[in-house]
Amino acid sequence: MARKKIIAGNWKMNMTPSQAVELINTLKPLVGNDEVDVVFCVPAIDIIPAVEAVKGTNIHIGAENMYFEEKGAFTGEISPAMLDDAGVKYVIIGHSERREYFAETNETVNRKVLKAFEHDITPIICCGESLTQREQGVTIDFIRQQIKVAFLNVTADQAKKAVIAYEPIWAIGTGKVATTEQAQEVCKAIRDCITEIYDAATGEAIRIQYGGSVSASSAPELFAQPDIDGGLVGGASLKADFGQIVCYNK
Ligand code: 13P
Repeated sequence: MARKKIIAGNWKMNMTPSQAVELINTLKPLVGNDEVDVVFCVPAIDIIPAVEAVKGTNIHIGAENMYFEEKGAFTGEISPAMLDDAGVKYVIIGHSERREYFAETNETVNRKVLKAFEHDITPIICCGESLTQREQGVTIDFIRQQIKVAFLNVTADQAKKAVIAYEPIWAIGTGKVATTEQAQEVCKAIRDCITEIYDAATGEAIRIQYGGSVSASSAPELFAQPDIDGGLVGGASLKADFGQIVCYNK
């Protein structure tokens, strides 16, 4: 069975609640594409108005982060039950910005992934190498390690539903998109790694996105690759361009 593409916006730390509703209203008529799952991952404070604003559309609302405990004395954190109750279907886990600025590790990523599944929220699990790692030729080894730890104790049935986002750090926010060949090569290596951990059916089912300076012009070629099942889009998800990215096949 062909995998359905999934194109998600990562708004990062942009848009106040009222700006979020405005942006959703602008994008709503532009992102109609039944062949694609469309997700807007928004700041936590925007989630409730965003869920309200997308009612009756094909847009799903996702979160950008989540904590791995159920509840309790974790000042400032947001639990999976809170996200679930608010109507969130997806959560980005382990974005490179969270790893770099907020000390997230492969181990915390794994704990968050397991928690998200417990609450039926689909994790969008991020991985990706730095420029140094690419230049040293250790990209695939590094990413395999990120994937193997992220999926510890995750069952095959859960893994089939997961989304992985391959985001080379050097391509994020730099306007320097990976070449189609580079993106396809790593996405294939990720799929092979999942097949190795589980089985061929799981490798075939899991969806793998590319992220890093995706634009309306680079999206069609990237998303046509056999192992790239869509994109995780930063900057361009805040503009009308996101409509063109979602409708890359039209
Ligand atoms: P840009 O599309 O702005 O490069 O950001 C990519 C990203 O980090 C998405 O999670």
